[in-house]
Amino acid sequence: MSAADLRPAAATGSPPPSPAVRTALGRLWLGAAWYPEQWPQSRWPKDLALMQAAGINVVRVGEFAWSTLEPHQGDYHFGWLERAIAEAARHHIRVVIGTPTDAPPVWLTSRYPQVLRVHADGRTAQHGNRRQFSYASPLYRKFCRDIVTRLAERFGHNPDVIGWQIDNEYTNESYDAGARREFHRWLQRRFGSLAALNRDWTTAYWSQTYTAWNQIPLNDRPGNPGLMLAHRQFVTATWLGYERNQLQALRAHVAPWQFITTNIGGLGWSAHWNHYTITRPLDIAAWDDYVGEGQLSFYRNGAMSDFVRGWKRQDYWVMEAQPGFVDWAPINNSLVKGAVRAMTWESVGHGADAVLFWQWRAALGGQEQYHGTLVGPDGKPEPLYTEVRRIGREFKRASAVIAGTSPRSQVALLVSYDSRWAIDFQRQTRRYHQLGVLLDYYRPLENLTHSVDIVSARAPLRRYKIVFAPSLNVISRSLARHLRAYVLGGGVLVLGPRSGMKDQYNRLNVEDQPGPLVPALGGRVQQYYALDAPVALEGAVGRGTGRIWAEALTRLAPATRVLLRYGAGNAWLTGEPAAIERRCGRGAIIYLGTILNRRLMHAFVARRLAAAGVRSPFGVLPRGIELMRRIGSGREVVIVINHGSTTRTVRLPYVMHDVLHPGRPVRTLNLRAQGVAVLEHAVQR
Ligand code: GAL
Repeated sequence: MSAADLRPAAATGSPPPSPAVRTALGRLWLGAAWYPEQWPQSRWPKDLALMQAAGINVVRVGEFAWSTLEPHQGDYHFGWLERAIAEAARHHIRVVIGTPTDAPPVWLTSRYPQVLRVHADGRTAQHGNRRQFSYASPLYRKFCRDIVTRLAERFGHNPDVIGWQIDNEYTNESYDAGARREFHRWLQRRFGSLAALNRDWTTAYWSQTYTAWNQIPLNDRPGNPGLMLAHRQFVTATWLGYERNQLQALRAHVAPWQFITTNIGGLGWSAHWNHYTITRPLDIAAWDDYVGEGQLSFYRNGAMSDFVRGWKRQDYWVMEAQPGFVDWAPINNSLVKGAVRAMTWESVGHGADAVLFWQWRAALGGQEQYHGTLVGPDGKPEPLYTEVRRIGREFKRASAVIAGTSPRSQVALLVSYDSRWAIDFQRQTRRYHQLGVLLDYYRPLENLTHSVDIVSARAPLRRYKIVFAPSLNVISRSLARHLRAYVLGGGVLVLGPRSGMKDQYNRLNVEDQPGPLVPALGGRVQQYYALDAPVALEGAVGRGTGRIWAEALTRLAPATRVLLRYGAGNAWLTGEPAAIERRCGRGAIIYLGTILNRRLMHAFVARRLAAAGVRSPFGVLPRGIELMRRIGSGREVVIVINHGSTTRTVRLPYVMHDVLHPGRPVRTLNLRAQGVAVLEHAVQR
């Protein structure tokens, strides 16, 4: 393998990591969510000793503790938190403080009920759960800023506090009068004039024309596609403002080596707001990685992890991980024995430098009594504790080897929130699931390259030999320029179904699909069809079927080649091109207008990768084996997991060192079900 293949393209010209990023991503962290406010202080040393024995080196505290931190307005009680941090430090455990703003105390909401969140149906949220605040309320933000400032002043230089989590899983938007006014102000800034808004949303349709800003509705119902897209963008902007409010308070007081993040929920794929925008001002990205019901689906979890890594295009934290089972799925079954360990190492393989289990111990009262934990109500280890202790031992061994390495990919999948929203507002067929389509691409890419980036369509793309953009529905002129520049410079862009149908206002592009990229492609979509049955396909790459969605393509330039055609059976499609390609500058654009069956997809992707010169030295692996590569600091770390149910053998292309069993050179690996190997190998710079 040549050094050039492994060179982290990210390193080219990117600034060195900040002290805060070095704190978060300079080693492996294993942790748990710990709620000292729920337990007598006399219990803390026992819990922390058990954590220490399991190899836990970080706890997250405080994120719901407002009523303990400030029991009455202006009456701050931080002594207990200081003592909890000191006690953790005595056990060599560091602390991430969560700001408590996801759970306002009752004195606040009863004295200032105007801060309460209003549901889309007009009901006002009440005290007794969490998330009952309006994210747009300036008064609520003032209270947030006050408590966060106090916490930052007190703990911003505490050597045992390594970082901060703002709030907890930004979730619910509000439809209160203040939020509506804010929406109108935001629209004014965005569109400048009502004339522009009416034009860009085509409000002449059904007499929607607005003559005053305050006529524009704020709700979560289906409506004008332009308004619906603007609402999602407004929700993003409002959460960003909510976050910035606390971020500024923290930045003003905390040491530069303390990192600031937030924990993002929604199983990674939620799309209430734009994750690229929300994570931009943070030091690192963090997410809460739950499986819920069922088994670990390793492609999905791997893809979600790559997607999270793409938010800031750097390694990240798993701030909450599933301790076997949860309490909110239809059936709260447990991950099988060994799967928590496998899932933890899967996260590390995809770029996580920390995994913290939620939670250490369930409060005896409170809403989440049934959730999985590491310690039971009796204060004694649950069965899963032993598995976590094993991870703790392994992290200790592997931490120094993994430090300074990250996944490095030569291929990327491109996503955009505008596109996700635009398609989900008007699915046209209930069978079109964007995550499913993404995974259709991800599976062969992961199998053939063992390292895939999933990044924003607007991310710098030069480092990639080939990028795939399924479902890139919204292609504005500026996005088209960005993509065209990548292709002209030598990149290969593969557009998937539904690409380029809409502009930035969610209007139809007048050029047809793929909109402003039609000239570069030398072709376009002539007509799209939602399918109720698969259609036959054939071409140089093989035969198979297209499912769910089919676009009949037309060539507009002689140099555009047809890669796949629809076969007989569907008269609208018979004989029409299903995939076309055109060389463009030093690169190429390919348009694939349907969703291929698995086999044909594999062949299609394999051929594209080969043509782009992308290959992995690890070849094709046995089914159920996942292999992940982290590269940096002159070494390659390879994590191999057997997600299957029987022992599998993996032959490596070169001898590697077994990090978990030092001193053992490995060339052939026998992995039991749920088995994990962490291997190391020096690479020349
Ligand atoms: C998360 C949340 C935690 C806890 C957990 C239970 O979404 O951030 O506070 O409720 O779910 O699975």
